[in-house]
Amino acid sequence: MKILGIETSCDETAAAVVAGNGERARVLSNIVSSQIEIHKKYGGVVPEVAAREHVLNILPVINEALETAGLNKKIEKKKQRPKNNDGIATLRSAPLAMTDIDAIAVTVGPGLITSLITGIETAKSLAYAWNIPLIGVNHIEGHIYANFIESRNTQHTTCNMQRITCNTQHATYNKKFEFPAIILTVSGGHTMLVLMNGHGRFKTIGETRDDAAGEAFDKAAKMMGIGYPGGPVISAEAEKFLISKLHPSSEYKQIINKSKIINHKSKISLPRPMIDSPDFDFSFSGLKTAIRYALEEDKNWKDRIPEYCAEFQQAIIDVLIKKTIKAGNKFNVKTIMLAGGVSANKELRKQLEKQVLKNNFKFSLPDLKYTTDNAAMIATAGYFKALRKEFTPWQDLRVDCNLEF
Ligand code: KG4
Ligand code: ZN
Repeated sequence: MKILGIETSCDETAAAVVAGNGERARVLSNIVSSQIEIHKKYGGVVPEVAAREHVLNILPVINEALETAGLNKKIEKKKQRPKNNDGIATLRSAPLAMTDIDAIAVTVGPGLITSLITGIETAKSLAYAWNIPLIGVNHIEGHIYANFIESRNTQHTTCNMQRITCNTQHATYNKKFEFPAIILTVSGGHTMLVLMNGHGRFKTIGETRDDAAGEAFDKAAKMMGIGYPGGPVISAEAEKFLISKLHPSSEYKQIINKSKIINHKSKISLPRPMIDSPDFDFSFSGLKTAIRYALEEDKNWKDRIPEYCAEFQQAIIDVLIKKTIKAGNKFNVKTIMLAGGVSANKELRKQLEKQVLKNNFKFSLPDLKYTTDNAAMIATAGYFKALRKEFTPWQDLRVDCNLEF
């Protein structure tokens, strides 16, 4: 079964084609048109700008996904009209026609309403024109299903050995997935612990009471003026500090040593909010305030950005890991899974894997390229919904920007 996935919930216009094999989905194409460069100068996503970009990009992106998957070879390419700023020429020139896609899966929420609507209306039109079923997908479910994408990446391990010590070549990880599972879902908009008892059987057992983990990364990076999105830049800065600790003679350590601040008696120490609370909820807004005060009190913070980033990142990781393992034990699960944009964080991947294996759970995490927003994950979630015949008539599919999970 081949599924076309469409994702436009925030600032990525994405389309992908996957083919399911019962246990996993193989990616035939995965096209993402990112708007990060456009939104960078504003330090965050500007909804109106994002919406306009989606309108311009959606059909060319879908067409590329179909072509890459080898599904619309029959279509004669019409002569492309020159692009203009209103997007009309681009829309008219996009060569779309009937393909051998079995169903279309599209993100219906949560997300920005003006962004979501472009993906949904396009999906509805195509489903009507091609007379194929339509599947509405919750964006968070999509992130979770990035774990069910077939991979040839040796980096991913579902074996019981630590990645550092495991020399096995995991050509693909098509192994049967073992339920129940606890999924740590961490993105720009959500931080949740989800119990998964089987395909489509989810129960949220904890979530953030204020900021999401990704949001905290983004806001802290903004405070330090080091770039957008915050997660990757904080992680890169933190890595400099961690490398300097591991390799004291490195060039970076010399730079740190030159700054007077290194002789400060007090090491940077940020709180681990709610780490020992009896529930499975999170809270990251206090951490954000703590780093703000720490920066305000430190005249030389600009010399210590890698150190602040390392501590900030570690504070988030400590809380996430402790609560995830606690949930795994409480619900007696077989597998622990990581999902969402923040799952791109190298230290989180590494440290969580270590703790998960130490506690005798199986571990699953998505390939890096499927961690942040993409349509392959939406198509994969759609494939499993299609197996359960969870289709929605195109007339009934609605945007729900606050869709609960
Ligand atoms: O899932 P995603 O692409 O979009 C949402 O659904 O929100 O997640 C984006 C979030 C951003 O907050 C970004 O800063 C964070 O994921 N992120 C990271 C990393 N890469 C992306 N956070 C920490 N470390 C990273 N390497
Ligand atoms: Zn996302």
